[in-house]
Amino acid sequence: MNDLDLTRLLAGKAAVVTGGGQGIGRGHCLHLAAAGASVMVNDLDAERAATVVHEIEAAGGKAIGSQADIGSRAGAERLIADCVSAFGAIDILVNNAGNLRDRSFLKCTDEEFDAVWRVHVKGTFWCAQAAALRMKTQGHGGAIVNTTSGAHFGSFGQTAYSAAKGAIASMTYTWATELAKEGIRVNAIGPLGSTGMSDTYKGDKPAAVADWIDPALNGPMVVFLCSHLAGHVSGQIFGTGGERISHMVQPHYGKTLIRPGGWTLEEIVRYFNLHLPQEFGAFGILGKPYPFHDGVRPRGAEA
Ligand SMILES: NC(=O)c1ccc[n+]([C@@H]2O[C@H](COP(=O)([O-])OP(=O)(O)OC[C@H]3O[C@@H](n4cnc5c(N)ncnc54)[C@H](O)[C@@H]3O)[C@@H](O)[C@H]2O)c1
Repeated sequence: MNDLDLTRLLAGKAAVVTGGGQGIGRGHCLHLAAAGASVMVNDLDAERAATVVHEIEAAGGKAIGSQADIGSRAGAERLIADCVSAFGAIDILVNNAGNLRDRSFLKCTDEEFDAVWRVHVKGTFWCAQAAALRMKTQGHGGAIVNTTSGAHFGSFGQTAYSAAKGAIASMTYTWATELAKEGIRVNAIGPLGSTGMSDTYKGDKPAAVADWIDPALNGPMVVFLCSHLAGHVSGQIFGTGGERISHMVQPHYGKTLIRPGGWTLEEIVRYFNLHLPQEFGAFGILGKPYPFHDGVRPRGAEA
């Protein structure tokens, strides 16, 4: 550790950060550059991307801006191709860009759902596929960091966003499995930070984000995950930001009841309440105790 120069941890690596012009993505760009990576700062907003490029250059780092829209296959492919032309390779991809169209489920429109799905899910899919194909050709592996959120546990008013973040978590697990043979590691973070996006959140704020949190505090963990120091880490999700690094436990089957020959309806009625409701644990993004033990009924209806 003593002779490890962290300012050269990613020296010689080429990185792309989507949505890097502000907020959490800006922090990733600054930290990746400070660790020696050449950084392609992507953002729909070219001016914001240029500002981050200048910040990196002023600190002695190397960066280029890209205005590609990652919410289209053409934009995503152009972004990765531009990184390769500028820096000769792509070694690191941080899928960070995101948008919101918060609306309660019964009012959520197709347009709102599609807008969120296109940027988060398809944007992540398109960028990662283009990057991984190139990493495979290069032959020396790579690192992909996706961005999910505790919203995928369930988040009031965020049907599209929670669905998108759940899909990103699932893609992370699947890609880690498929890309290991190419030496490509795939992890994700569920970040925290006070940003343009967090300002628009209408639900109860998790205690962790009630105060201002520097969005750049997510960057060091992203650098670590992208470095050889995390060569043994893939298919993992970490809650980052603020003062925490939290390992997100992969969903898995819990208590399991086995009945040879299968379960009849009669037996389910007999055994379900004896064995399973006690297993219903923390629920939703706020991690509240399971709220429905007394039943779910229309407002005002008698218990
Ligand atoms: N802020 C939080 O506390 C929080 C919590 C959980 C997850 N996240 C996730 O972290 C990521 C960054 O969020 P943020 O809070 O910094 O948001 P932000 O709105 O401040 O920044 C997002 C950036 O993405 C860019 N962008 C949007 N669509 C794009 C596209 N099609 N192509 C290129 N760039 C595009 C925007 O221009 C913007 O600069 C998002 O994926 C978000 O869902 C944030």
